[in-house]
Amino acid sequence: MPETVTITDNRTGESVEVPISNGGVDASQWSKLLPGIWFYDPSFGATAAASSSITELDGENGILRYRGYPIEQLAEQSTYLEVAYLLIHGELPNAEQFAAWTHDITYHTFIHENVRKRFMEGFHHDAHPMGILVSTLAALSTFYPDAKDIFGAESRHKQIIRLIAKMPTIAAGAHRHSVGMPFVYPDNNLDFCSNFLSMMWKVAEPHFQPDPVLSHALDVLFILHADHEQNCSTTAMRVVGSSHADAYSASAAAAAALYGPRHGGANEAVIRMLTEIGTIDNVEPFIASVKEGKGRLQGFGHRVYKNYDPRARIIKKVAYDVFEVTGKNQLLDIALKLEETALSDDYFISRKLYPNVDFYSGLIYQAMGFPMEMFTVLFAIPRVAGWLAHWNEMLDQDARIARPRQLYTGEAVRDYVPMGGR
Ligand code: ACO
Repeated sequence: MPETVTITDNRTGESVEVPISNGGVDASQWSKLLPGIWFYDPSFGATAAASSSITELDGENGILRYRGYPIEQLAEQSTYLEVAYLLIHGELPNAEQFAAWTHDITYHTFIHENVRKRFMEGFHHDAHPMGILVSTLAALSTFYPDAKDIFGAESRHKQIIRLIAKMPTIAAGAHRHSVGMPFVYPDNNLDFCSNFLSMMWKVAEPHFQPDPVLSHALDVLFILHADHEQNCSTTAMRVVGSSHADAYSASAAAAAALYGPRHGGANEAVIRMLTEIGTIDNVEPFIASVKEGKGRLQGFGHRVYKNYDPRARIIKKVAYDVFEVTGKNQLLDIALKLEETALSDDYFISRKLYPNVDFYSGLIYQAMGFPMEMFTVLFAIPRVAGWLAHWNEMLDQDARIARPRQLYTGEAVRDYVPMGGR
């Protein structure tokens, strides 16, 4: 059987046979046969916007791999910094490469004093930390004019290191500002996640050493969130990057995309939903109301996964490790009952709605003491590695500027009517 698709224009009888390659067909063949007829796909539901060798996602079978390595193995055996290296460089580092990578990231964790004092402290006291993060990322481009050199290998590498390194510093700074606590400088003696926790929670102690179970749990969560192929924020990164904007401006756009409740804001929505449900007895009426179309079951469903999100399975395990240290999150029982009820209900089964990564991550973050406003920020910290891997790849591919077409449905030409005549 030929691995091809034939497109026929029934108006003319002309057709073109297009080979299926890597699971897709080349749209330029469509354009050759049908100039001026656009393929209508507003939310990219059937469009591959890029070719990529970074992350493989098989939603039907619940498979997620970074550069070929199964997410389960990485979560079990790797660290976030090693995964970040893997995403950016395509291979796991050897000992020497990893030592250099860790050193460079550790020594770029500080942010310019003006970023902190004049810019971040200028926000209103109750500014949402995600809003602070988005704006600060954009502002960094003014501090690093060398970032404009997007085709210089050395400059590109420098911006990648800076962004991965500074995300926790900005994130913790945004939190400290929003609760009126003094900024904590990075502690370069700590590992990546412990340093972040130190910048979040340190008060008057000379040296803050977080519980290793909590640092490790955060590291696993960072691995799980590091990339997810062409999701909304990564698409924003690639689209903005395709105009040759610098890495900070493109990352700010990606972070803005992540801010929305349909994307990175969903774990916050899960906690609000569980709090609103309040008791196990309310689970069934709540599910009934969702089925009547009165709102969605937050943390369920995914554009790509039509099976259990493999990240949700790993996160559920991490949740129990964290609760050993922090005590059980009271909302856990409601979440477990909700999952059990939904997974045995035909409404959710027939629509292939399973828990996604956000269903349990919020419970862990809450148990660790993070305020809800920080949840999306916690997602953004590791996702920057994925955004940058895609940005790097897109530039190496010499991608054309992203410029979709539209189906015009507005008025036909008409004459301007002066104000008095309207
Ligand atoms: N609860 C109840 N019903 C749902 C849910 C849900 N969470 N998600 C989808 N559905 C239903 C829809 O109503 C629709 O039903 P219908 O066919 O009877 O109209 C059907 O399932 C298909 O839904 P779509 O909206 O087409 O799914 P889409 O792929 O556009 O949306 C999304 C995916 C946005 C993630 C959706 O499932 C959702 O809103 N989930 C809740 C929010 C959430 O958890 N987001 C996190 C995503 S993961 C991430 O970004 C890290």
